[in-house]
Amino acid sequence: MPNAAITGWGKCLPPNILSNGDIATFMETSDEWITSRTGIRERRIAHTSLNDLFHIAGARALACAGLQGSDIDLIVVGSTTHDDQCPNMASSLQQRLGADGCAAMDLNTACTSFLYALSTATAMIRSGVVRTALVAGGELISPYMDWNDRNVAVLFGDGAAAVVLQATDRDEGLQIEKLGCYGESREILRIHGIGGAYTHQGRMLGATEWQFEGQEIFKKAVHGMGSACEDVLKRAGLSPDDIDLVIPHQANLRIIESVAKRAGIPMERVYVNVQRYGNMSAATVPVALCEALEDGRVRPGAQLLMPAFGGGLTFCAHLVRWGERVTPLASTDVDLQPVSRSALETVMRYRAARGAAIA
Ligand code: ACO
Repeated sequence: MPNAAITGWGKCLPPNILSNGDIATFMETSDEWITSRTGIRERRIAHTSLNDLFHIAGARALACAGLQGSDIDLIVVGSTTHDDQCPNMASSLQQRLGADGCAAMDLNTACTSFLYALSTATAMIRSGVVRTALVAGGELISPYMDWNDRNVAVLFGDGAAAVVLQATDRDEGLQIEKLGCYGESREILRIHGIGGAYTHQGRMLGATEWQFEGQEIFKKAVHGMGSACEDVLKRAGLSPDDIDLVIPHQANLRIIESVAKRAGIPMERVYVNVQRYGNMSAATVPVALCEALEDGRVRPGAQLLMPAFGGGLTFCAHLVRWGERVTPLASTDVDLQPVSRSALETVMRYRAARGAAIA
């Protein structure tokens, strides 16, 4: 049975930055409150579609692997948000990358979507259905945000990233994972206003309400990720000392610190970038993976542990053995279209549109 090596990686962060100070101009909050409770200092706000973010991230991951779109057999896009429900986003990625005819599916398990997608594509490579896959995780949360609700507006951001998987006989790629869901807790994190259940209420895009019990999510997140890490280490026959780097879902610095403590892994071996991007949901783990590689934090042959949680409440932990190559084979100059307005201006437009929709 082949393994599924990660041979390419690429990210796409919208350039527009919304700082804590920017949010404090239209909402009763402060940089001090946000930073001390979450670790977040700023986040990105997209000026383009989610399909655009996926395209750039996918093109960069392909170049990194030294492959063309036509080499891809399968695309799995993990995301909670979408430009269109039908056609799906994987088909847009297929078209834009020239991956003609390949299988293309979207998958939604909220913030764990990228890691669930990694499991799906790896299983299809192991079973011989496909040999080369592109797995992407990304979100365009800003249009769906309730920019009047300080409980959630300060926490999230937009972004995307992708990896390329290739069948190999080498002992690398996803080794063992634990996937789970606390369905009984699905009401503690619900976004009202996206999906068919709301059409009879006459809601419009942007007129969302976030049902969000922060402290309950915090507890479940630590329990779910902590137990998934223990399960994976036990089945792999590894101790916390064998893990070279933890690349966790980046929702809140305090959650990350609690999970690391529970797993017995010091923060020096945990990659953290939540301060720059906030919670990008399905994008956090692949973006953090890309940046850990760029920063030289992933050595050849490294054992990587990737825990995550998301709405549902889904949770998981993935053990990935890295290969020999930690640098890209090539790069591409494709990029997003130029920015025409600031992050704050974009958010103010969402607020105005929401006000008009609700009035
Ligand atoms: N600015 C200023 N004050 C605020 C803000 C804000 N942005 N948000 C809430 N407050 C106030 C509250 O109103 C409350 O005031 P009160 O005491 O007068 O009632 C006070 O701050 C404390 O609120 P708590 O909810 O108790 O704050 P807590 O310390 O629990 O932190 C937080 C809240 C950051 C949401 C925390 O519970 C948390 O991180 N939870 C995990 C949730 C999370 O990270 N979710 C994102 C993940 S979703 C996902 O990944 C799928």
